[in-house]
Amino acid sequence: MRLTIIGTGYVGIVAAVCFAKLGHSVTAVDREHVINSFQNNQLSMWEPGLQDLLNETIRDGKLVFDADIARASAHADALLIAVGTPARADGHTDLSQVEAVFAHLVQAGVCPPLVIMKSTVPVGTCNELEASLREAGISTEVAFNPEFLRQGSAINDFMSPDRIVLGCRSHQAEDVLRHLYDGINAPIQVCDRRSAELMKYASNAFLAMKISFANMMADLCEGYDADIRQVMQGVGADRRIGPHFLQAGVGYGGSCFSKDLQSLLTSGKKIGHALPLLEATAFINDQRIPQMLDKLITIWGNPLGKRLGVLGIAFKPNTSDVRDAPFLTLLKLCHLYGIDVQAYDPVVSQVSFEGVKVMDTAYEVSTNVDAILLMTEWPQFAELDWVEMVLPMREAIVLDGRNVLSDEAIKRLMCLEGVTYVPVGRSMVMEPHLATSGHTL
Ligand code: UGA
Repeated sequence: MRLTIIGTGYVGIVAAVCFAKLGHSVTAVDREHVINSFQNNQLSMWEPGLQDLLNETIRDGKLVFDADIARASAHADALLIAVGTPARADGHTDLSQVEAVFAHLVQAGVCPPLVIMKSTVPVGTCNELEASLREAGISTEVAFNPEFLRQGSAINDFMSPDRIVLGCRSHQAEDVLRHLYDGINAPIQVCDRRSAELMKYASNAFLAMKISFANMMADLCEGYDADIRQVMQGVGADRRIGPHFLQAGVGYGGSCFSKDLQSLLTSGKKIGHALPLLEATAFINDQRIPQMLDKLITIWGNPLGKRLGVLGIAFKPNTSDVRDAPFLTLLKLCHLYGIDVQAYDPVVSQVSFEGVKVMDTAYEVSTNVDAILLMTEWPQFAELDWVEMVLPMREAIVLDGRNVLSDEAIKRLMCLEGVTYVPVGRSMVMEPHLATSGHTL
């Protein structure tokens, strides 16, 4: 099948290489400088397996790039749209990139019989887009095919999804979509487009809600001297709940959860429905970073002039994406309090924002700092020699924002003088002779 994909952000480029790998002839469309960087093997994102698949599919002639939408769409069997749909300041979804693509198609007078929306769009958008094409005399169906891949495991999520959802109006569109996914072994759910659109938001909102629930329970655990890891292990063992997305920590980040929650809240407001569960989910998440800093300030007393070492800049492990990363909120707050920040991330070596010194190694982060804050659960952070880590610190305070350190590592730390270990959803541990509250080992 000849597929043209508009937009080569995370979803677009992963879809492009995966559909090409499945045997389709894919043309990926983006601005000139963006497609040049793909053609020159310069991926702007760090995603396991993506570079290899990109090389392979380009080499096999299954994936080509073009900067001209009309040319790339002229002979396609279907067009897949994967452009950005960010949140506007007023909470509405910014559909300008999607609308620009449709305007282009109308203007050029070329449009394949099926347009597949992969960009996350508010409920009702596909119907409206299809109507706008019809008004221009184009009888194309606009289907919605949500994407559920996670950054960091995008290729695997795409090739082995839990489900494939096809939101479409006609059997012809369903047949084309099924053909597109030939070779992927997953349950297929066919439904109307509005339900598919809403399902995408509902999935992300539910995952965010699970995380905020775990974070809320973590606060309770700290107050009652219980252990959030034990609590959530038992809760998640119930098959009706499941063990995933129950890790308490510094809160969720990334370009999807906050934006999609906001968009859903706006959709609710539009028809007069409050969505209090989602408001609480966002509220709990917004408190996480201020709470982490409060913990440090309580120990320090005065934060002015303190220096904080941070492990993890991107919003989670295995990605270089810093969009909406909890780290950015932390940085802003540190700036307000007059705290200096030096940070390390295994795959982020340069940042476009100011106020942070990016270090070359994890060990360099601890030099002359008054505390370390672990923001993401990269396995190599757990594997560090934590005794070596704390030695160059001015004050040996380790705030483990993801409960990464093993019991063994904590025990070894506690053999040193003056160390304070602050986990999430568990009692703080202090080196014995300093302990006035919290647990001692
Ligand atoms: C999320 C969804 O998981 C995907 O299904 C969806 O396709 C994607 O958004 C999207 O809409 O594009 P992603 O944002 O890549 O994927 O990352 P997640 O793995 O979901 O993590 C999101 C945030 O939640 C991260 O900051 C992570 O650290 C945090 N998280 C995750 C927790 O704090 N606790 C957990 O237990 C799990």
